[in-house]
Amino acid sequence: MQSRIIGTGACVPDDVLTNEAIERLVDTSDEWIVSRTGIRERRRTGGTEASSDLAYKAARYALRDAGVKAGEVDLVLVATTTPDMLLPSTACIVQDRLGLKNVPAFDLSAACTGFIYGLSTADAFIRSGAYGTILLIGVDTLTKFTDYGDRTTCVIFGDGAGAVVVKAIREKRGVIGSMLYADGDKWDYIYVPAGGSRIPSYAADKTTWYLRMKGHDTFKVAVRGLEQAIIGLLERYRVPIEDIDIVIPHQANVRIIEALTRKLGYPPEKVFVNIQKYGNTSAASIPIALDEAVRQGRIKSGDTVLLTAFGSGLTWGASLIKW
Ligand code: COA
Repeated sequence: MQSRIIGTGACVPDDVLTNEAIERLVDTSDEWIVSRTGIRERRRTGGTEASSDLAYKAARYALRDAGVKAGEVDLVLVATTTPDMLLPSTACIVQDRLGLKNVPAFDLSAACTGFIYGLSTADAFIRSGAYGTILLIGVDTLTKFTDYGDRTTCVIFGDGAGAVVVKAIREKRGVIGSMLYADGDKWDYIYVPAGGSRIPSYAADKTTWYLRMKGHDTFKVAVRGLEQAIIGLLERYRVPIEDIDIVIPHQANVRIIEALTRKLGYPPEKVFVNIQKYGNTSAASIPIALDEAVRQGRIKSGDTVLLTAFGSGLTWGASLIKW
């Protein structure tokens, strides 16, 4: 059995937060943000709008695209680090909204690498024969944990969700394989101190409830990690880099993507970039980009597609797909 992505979908909130709007909040400029990150605008959830609201809509689009009824799904997987609440899982909330009964559902936490970890998990479940049709969603609403008084983080993040339907097939195509990595030694490169068991939300204050990030250090580790994941994956599956038709990287910073492309000697025009519109949407960034690439005709049947991401944990990884 192989697993194949048979449908994609995405959803971002309506509210657009432009660089000009951020200029009014902190000491920064559109010129600085664009030249240092590639980001021009991002989307932001408002009020009580939560991750499951975006996840549900992305899931509906992906199911429709796949021509699969919600009732045919036999596992719901949600990659997120910004669940609606501490418990239950956002996957259970999405499962309920889709009207699914008696189908397992769980969240998976690998921050911006969540979609790669999720795809690898879905692929393993399918290869084992345990499940046949898996709904995999990457969703994050990090703007809810962003300090709009901190110029070093508030320009980066946006909210969104992307979903795919992964199906068991008996063909030599689909997910070829994935490589996953983690380095917990660097857990404090990107983290939100409060809201868990160490600093419960009732004990949080303005110094602990927002995301903290060592941006410069993360940048360097990210480029190395992505390169390692891609080279490791291509070696394991004996695929020369020239055979890759498109790379869909996690959209964290356009300079990270450019540095990686240069190191690999890979043609930049074959790398998909949409960070200018959404910023870093964490676990949603790859499935949103994948959905756009498919819709724009950038991915055709038979193409070899490489996905790669890094994020808090630190975690990183890559997946290879024969589309
Ligand atoms: N506007 C203007 N100046 C800013 C700024 C902003 N929004 N943010 C930081 N600066 C300033 C800093 O204060 C610093 O000033 P100083 O030299 O007077 O101290 C200067 O710019 C350089 O800061 P530095 O952190 O070295 O900038 P950078 O080129 O590394 O860019 C990031 C900062 C955050 C954009 C970049 O490091 C990055 O993208 N890192 C990766 C983060 C990431 O991907 N996180 C998510 C992982 S999934």
